[in-house]
Amino acid sequence: MRTKANEVYSMVSFRFHFCFLVLLVVFLTPTHSLSHICLPKQQHVALFIFGDSLFDAGNNDYINTTTDNLANYGPYGETFFNYPTGRFSNGRLIPDFIAEFAKLPFITPFLYPGYHQYTDGANFASAGAGALVETKQGLVIDLKTQLHYYKKLAKLLRRRLGHEEAKTLLARAVYLISIGSNDYFALSTSNSSALQTYSPEEYVDAVIGNLTSVIKGIYKKGGRKIAIPNLAPLGCLPIARALSPNNTGARKSVRWIQIFNSRYLHYSK
Ligand SMILES: *[C@@H]1O[C@H](CO)[C@@H](O)[C@H](O)[C@H]1NC(C)=O
Ligand SMILES: *[C@@H]1O[C@H](CO)[C@@H](O)[C@H](O)[C@H]1NC(C)=O
Ligand SMILES: *[C@@H]1O[C@H](CO)[C@@H](O)[C@H](O)[C@H]1NC(C)=O
Ligand SMILES: *[C@@H]1O[C@H](CO)[C@@H](O)[C@H](O)[C@H]1NC(C)=O
Repeated sequence: MRTKANEVYSMVSFRFHFCFLVLLVVFLTPTHSLSHICLPKQQHVALFIFGDSLFDAGNNDYINTTTDNLANYGPYGETFFNYPTGRFSNGRLIPDFIAEFAKLPFITPFLYPGYHQYTDGANFASAGAGALVETKQGLVIDLKTQLHYYKKLAKLLRRRLGHEEAKTLLARAVYLISIGSNDYFALSTSNSSALQTYSPEEYVDAVIGNLTSVIKGIYKKGGRKIAIPNLAPLGCLPIARALSPNNTGARKSVRWIQIFNSRYLHYSK
């Protein structure tokens, strides 16, 4: 026999599944028609985006870098924007879908010239970036520099909105960080000196240590809602297979990513 508590529980879980389904549907459809179902009526929430090519909406177009760190040519962008926006995608990126769902405009790259409407947030991500300064050094905006830009922006917002309003905006905002893949990818594809100085565990600790510093930096400025996706098995990417024909790099990077994800899970508890 079902108890009352059980019923309540299954109702809650049904509701959760329903919302999750709606979320999926919203993520998969280009319209906004369903997005009001799960979201309570709410105040304005800004979105601050950090990380690598999974989240970069075009910052690299405004730095000195090489073609492999740029997505400013076709077929990038061809199925949604109809021109290459600097996103490493034929269409939108995950933060774009999240912005749509939150009824925000697409969040503009921080380096986009002449754009200063930061009350919706900003995108600091840079394709190729890692948590370690050494990852693609000189060709990307590393995570620490991204944090530096965020701090500059926080200062600007305080000046423009006043201390209290800026504080509320930063505290209510959602922070998305996609980072780590390039740190491990660098190990499996290049002759990194890091390999001579670090064991895999030490290397993972350095990546997580630097990511932690950035999270603390955001926290210190008032950020509270921070989301960081796990890393995918990079060794299985076509480019990783191509660069490491007998798959040694792939096996190595899968191991690093397993360590990273398990430590990260541990850390996020
Ligand atoms: C970009 O890099 C090139 C080659 O290293 C250099 O000549 C040029 O001055 C740099 N441009 C900027 C804006 O830093
Ligand atoms: C890696 O470094 C070793 C030793 O320094 C060198 O012999 C080898 O050619 C390098 N391999 C690549 C792909 O750069
Ligand atoms: C951050 O990375 C550097 C290497 O770039 C490393 O020496 C340092 O220990 C790391 N910091 C933390 C807190 O792990
Ligand atoms: C492939 O693996 C073998 C050992 O199993 C090694 O001798 C060889 O150098 C590797 N080749 C490449 C291109 O990594």
